[in-house]
Amino acid sequence: MPVITTIEDLRRIYRRRVPRMFYDYCESGSWTEQTFRENTSDFGQIRLRQRVAVDMEGRSTATRMIGQEVTMPVALAPVGLTGMQSADGEIKAARAAEKFGVPFTLSTMSICSIEDVAAHTQKPFWFQLYVMRDQEFLENIIERARRAGCSALVLTLDLQILGQRHKDLKNGLSAPPKLTLPTLLNLATKWGWGLEMLGTKRRQFGNIVGHARGVTNASSLITWTAEQFDPRLDWEKVRRIKEMWDGKLILKGILDADDAKMALDVGADAIVVSNHGGRQLDGAVSAIRALPSILRAVGGQVEVHLDSGIRSGQDVLKAVAMGAQGTYIGRAFIYGLGAMGEAGVRTALEILHKELDVSMALCGHKTIEGLGHDILMIPEDFE
Ligand code: FNR
Repeated sequence: MPVITTIEDLRRIYRRRVPRMFYDYCESGSWTEQTFRENTSDFGQIRLRQRVAVDMEGRSTATRMIGQEVTMPVALAPVGLTGMQSADGEIKAARAAEKFGVPFTLSTMSICSIEDVAAHTQKPFWFQLYVMRDQEFLENIIERARRAGCSALVLTLDLQILGQRHKDLKNGLSAPPKLTLPTLLNLATKWGWGLEMLGTKRRQFGNIVGHARGVTNASSLITWTAEQFDPRLDWEKVRRIKEMWDGKLILKGILDADDAKMALDVGADAIVVSNHGGRQLDGAVSAIRALPSILRAVGGQVEVHLDSGIRSGQDVLKAVAMGAQGTYIGRAFIYGLGAMGEAGVRTALEILHKELDVSMALCGHKTIEGLGHDILMIPEDFE
């Protein structure tokens, strides 16, 4: 096993270990992947100010996200099909997050169900909701999240219609996968992954199969999911969901200052500046570039979080110093999970923590709350 010191190391191991269609599903953006690429490259355009001769003893990266204590301002983002990257992947990721002291968000499109994850963890996790046309399913899944003790509902707003990803279309990705000859050949070479998968019964969307009317097997699942993302989602519906949930509400997928004001109006507890990791509108602005205008628009009246493009603790530092109260990682933890299961997610979190801690110190700060624009050099063309 090579020595692992960066998130990129984990990505390389993950790529070797997991079937190509699931690697591609993670490591892709929509259409030309411009937004996907700029999410990471734009972080590189922000420079940090080095400070010296500042006492660095007794530092801490601990802070709060929506009132919850966290070891560092990083949550695990909702990622569909996580249980296909590693058997029972959602449970492994949730356990790693819980032990590290950061929030885990379970996707609607997860393989392990809400109840499964709740049964294998001690602390409350967050649940991400996609708005589906089936009202009965919607009410039911909100109730299930409440019963499982989820401490926040993360409502995703940027996926009323699925962005097109060429790699997935070419690979014939579906759940369960369509077994074409190239897919079969690739699966046959991934022994470690295959044996793990044979050892679990959880291989379908656990939140949906057996819970949505008429969805009892793979083919009914495919038809149902294809029809269910609700293109009629509007702010009125967001309000209704807020009433139905009646707990902490995080609105995810905000990229525009006007939308941020609407989210404020609805009374969200936090918003997530995000372009879905470059998987929806290709050509959209990177999340970090959109952050300043959104912070200005909401003027501190709602917590602002950010995801899309975070691959290092320095990226976390930059987002937080710009004014985000927290960040989320998607691919960074999936690389770890696919590479080494629960231990890999823990490694990803440790890498980010180390980089955040050391960079914060070299910028002359000891606490997350003390961070601000003074440590940043931001290009003028950032919004
Ligand atoms: C996602 N994302 C996502 N978001 C969501 O609200 N529900 C979901 O089910 C999924 N599924 C999903 C699958 C995969 C493979 C990826 C990579 C992403 C988006 C995710 O929550 C987050 O916004 C991005 O992953 C953030 O970008 P980075 O950290 O991956 O660059």
